[in-house]
Amino acid sequence: MRLGIISALAEEQHGLLEALQSPSRHVHGMREYTTGKLWEIDAVCVLSRIGKVAAAMTAAILVEKFGVTHIIFTGVAGSGDKNVKVGDIVIAESLIQHDFNASPLFPQYEIPLTGISRFATDVTLTERLAGAAEKTTRVHRGLIASGDQFIGKLTQIQALKAALPDLLAVEMEGAAVAQVCFEMGIPFAVIRTISDNANDEAAVDFMHFIKTVASRYAFEVIRNFCKS
Ligand code: ADE
Repeated sequence: MRLGIISALAEEQHGLLEALQSPSRHVHGMREYTTGKLWEIDAVCVLSRIGKVAAAMTAAILVEKFGVTHIIFTGVAGSGDKNVKVGDIVIAESLIQHDFNASPLFPQYEIPLTGISRFATDVTLTERLAGAAEKTTRVHRGLIASGDQFIGKLTQIQALKAALPDLLAVEMEGAAVAQVCFEMGIPFAVIRTISDNANDEAAVDFMHFIKTVASRYAFEVIRNFCKS
């Protein structure tokens, strides 16, 4: 296994870079890829920056240039369900691009010529990640929706929840990585710590969370994952 680990922002990956043994930095396409060993696992850590295009490009380069065989995306997300609280972890079973709509040519959410609206995560990788997340905090598993918007209005999250009743969390990258990994045949998983409720307070909560606890659980989960 050569594991690619992507986060959007530095705060979300804090600790992992320091844990990388024999690190080697490579700059490519305005991203810094750091290769090395994470608790015996051959790994490449990178910050994608924000949004679906940024994440898709980063995932493709991880595969094509750095030869990763598996990808994990780790970061924060807004809650998409009343039972999913700030500080909880959501592990994706499937991901949807909530702002994708090529209707009437294709059904809403469907990615043209794939026939897929919801990209399933790799079962083995996701199970191992869920095992690694046990005992850290409350863990939920299910649907994560990604789009090129920060969801920071109650009306926005209510509309998304009405359209996707089984939604657990919203973020801006996961489903793009899911599409790239599907198309490249790369097993992938997504783990997100909830930073805000995607409502009118979301921006303030997000900024506070990202500065304080954003990477704490993620670091612990990835360490447990690598050691498992
Ligand atoms: N990532 C963290 N919180 C988010 C939100 N409310 N909307 C989109 N992405 C997020």
